[in-house]
Amino acid sequence: EKVVLAYSGGVDTSVCIPYLKKEWGVKEVITLAADLGQGEELGPIQTKALKCGAVESLVADATEEFVSNYAFPAIKANALYENRYPLSTALARPLIAKLLVEAAQKYGADAVAHGCTGKGNDQVRFDLGITALNPNIKILAPAREWGMSREDAIAYGEQFGIEAPVKKSSPYSIDRNLLGRSIEAGPLEDPMTEPPEEIYAMTKSVLEAPDEAEYLEITFEQGTPIAVNGVALSPVALVTKINEVAGNHGVGRIDMIENRVVGIKSREIYEAPALLVLIKAHEDLESLTLTSDVTHYKRAHIDETYSRMIYEGLWYSPLKNALDAFIEETQKRVSGTVRIKFFKGSATIVGRKSQYSLYDSDLSTYGEEDQFDHKAAEGFIYVWGLSTRVWAEKTRSIES
Ligand code: ARG
Ligand code: SIN
Repeated sequence: EKVVLAYSGGVDTSVCIPYLKKEWGVKEVITLAADLGQGEELGPIQTKALKCGAVESLVADATEEFVSNYAFPAIKANALYENRYPLSTALARPLIAKLLVEAAQKYGADAVAHGCTGKGNDQVRFDLGITALNPNIKILAPAREWGMSREDAIAYGEQFGIEAPVKKSSPYSIDRNLLGRSIEAGPLEDPMTEPPEEIYAMTKSVLEAPDEAEYLEITFEQGTPIAVNGVALSPVALVTKINEVAGNHGVGRIDMIENRVVGIKSREIYEAPALLVLIKAHEDLESLTLTSDVTHYKRAHIDETYSRMIYEGLWYSPLKNALDAFIEETQKRVSGTVRIKFFKGSATIVGRKSQYSLYDSDLSTYGEEDQFDHKAAEGFIYVWGLSTRVWAEKTRSIES
């Protein structure tokens, strides 16, 4: 049996290699590490996989694809899980699932594997993503079944020459990519404990942020961000630039209790500076360019459902495809520029413009140019409020 294993270089996924071979009789383990802009050299990880017993160690350079095909569609949907988490980790999973399935095909593997535990969301996203792309492929999840604690896993690995983490290992579980960092565990498991400053890496503390405000103008074309301060940038360069500016001003931290798919509430810390700023800017541009009914319907139904589906592992699904079609239709005129002011932990939208702006100053003005028919409002309110009037009159007559 030949297996492609999603590999991060950490203890758990490293232990998976000898474990799959010795305990589950897998003949050949091929590891796959995805470069999603986590800013880590993948060369050493490649070498480590071979040392742990992999026959082949693949690295997939997938950062552009990650931003263009996973992050940007989510921005068009203003995707925030439970109104706060911009899904920086969740968005990576369907892409890794796709890379696994493609590698399995290419190398003639019968199964794919991942190192997720049975308590998290990531197992759901991997398993569902893989199944949607190839329902016939076998999925192995050793860490879901081995029942080893982290200490057990380290001891198990040592038998096979897998070094325990050098320093007294960090108590945190951290997932990172270009879009953000997700930090869990250790002292953060007490929801009342303030996160220590040391856990952050993409954002400065507000106390350290510059004393001067900085402005960025982000330009969108049909819902997709394409330029910063008038300079066209590639998707990766654009996200990198906004991460730097926002992070430097202390923008992008989230501390929340969230509801996992498996029913557990967990305390999560996130840093996702660019993604949060881009969603906010995009949403603002929609407010300028979409009609009232499309805005309300999209926010309440489409965006909310889309966000939940990303979180719940349903990226590759018929409903998600249908929502994409709806969203694409709405984005045709979401083009324009949004001006954002960064200062001491805040990113405030201070201006927006679009060639498709539906803002009509002849209607909205309180000045002399006013074109709005004030008299028409009276009849409108009479009809609009008729059912309330009837209800109020009946209530009064019954109660008096
Ligand atoms: N709770 C977040 C999510 O569901 C983050 C998971 C992070 N994974 C990790 N291994 N730390 O997307
Ligand atoms: C895991 O348990 O594998 C990571 C955490 C998560 O998926 O939420």
